[in-house]
Amino acid sequence: MIPELSRPSVYMRDPRRVEEIIKAMKQAGPSTMQVISDFDMTLTRFAYNGKRCPTCHNILENSKLISQECRDKLEDLLNTYYPIEIDSSRSVEEKLPLMVEWWTKAHDLLVQQKIRKDLLTLVVRESDAMLREGYRVFFDQLQEHSIPLLIFSAGVGDVLEEVIRQAGVFHPNVKIFSNYMDFDENGALRAFKGQLIHIYNKREGALLNSGHFQELKARHNVLLLGDSLGDLTMADGVYSMENILKIGYLNDKVQERKESYLNAYDIVLQQDETMDVANAILLYMTSSH
Ligand code: TMP
Ligand code: MG
Repeated sequence: MIPELSRPSVYMRDPRRVEEIIKAMKQAGPSTMQVISDFDMTLTRFAYNGKRCPTCHNILENSKLISQECRDKLEDLLNTYYPIEIDSSRSVEEKLPLMVEWWTKAHDLLVQQKIRKDLLTLVVRESDAMLREGYRVFFDQLQEHSIPLLIFSAGVGDVLEEVIRQAGVFHPNVKIFSNYMDFDENGALRAFKGQLIHIYNKREGALLNSGHFQELKARHNVLLLGDSLGDLTMADGVYSMENILKIGYLNDKVQERKESYLNAYDIVLQQDETMDVANAILLYMTSSH
């Protein structure tokens, strides 16, 4: 049906079920679909030529907007908390307060740096930010078929927007829920707006933004893309869901985490730096409509 699903990076616990969902969604057509995706390490690459690619936070951390002292502190936080984020031996309950701690400390450090709004464009341009291979086909295809794309990110909204704007794919069908910066009258960062989004409260975020899902009430079929088990709740605000196909990128700690990813995601993409599988599925679902 879709040759890309036979690639060596693709794992499925129940390929028959995947096939059924894809067929049901194709049958219902693009006007019933919405795509909900995580950003960091899902729409962006995990690694390129053996080197790790930056998250939104890393883009700021590696920039000249930040003092060396602050960079060192953010790096320490990353070294402390990232291993916890990906530790499959700890429960979500155990990790949750630690993730809140990470985000809170990181945001406090960023605020202390009084980051300037007018320099964000340059910082992103000079960064190593990289969307996954095939990103243009992904964004353009959704735009062409008027399928809404919700990007639901625990990263930094202002940085994320700039990455997709500079890539030329910030189309009108793209809507973003993320942590947005609040700038003072001089254009310097003074706080983050609204409720903090971290990797384990996307469900609450979805429910808080129920107005968005209300607008898309007729779209009962969801393609969900994520790289963390916390991303699975991003679609919890969707009204009367009919079908959901969940695609999960398994980037790191592959052997330890594979089983849990296979249990949670319909399709697991192991160390796959492309959007090819999602693109092929979307092409199939939207063809002859
Ligand atoms: P996501 O939900 O868009 O994937 O964003 C969350 C990622 O951001 C998560 O993988 C951890 C990462 N992160 C950093 O790299 N540095 C930080 O300081 C923080 C708070 C998060
Ligand atoms: Mg992510």
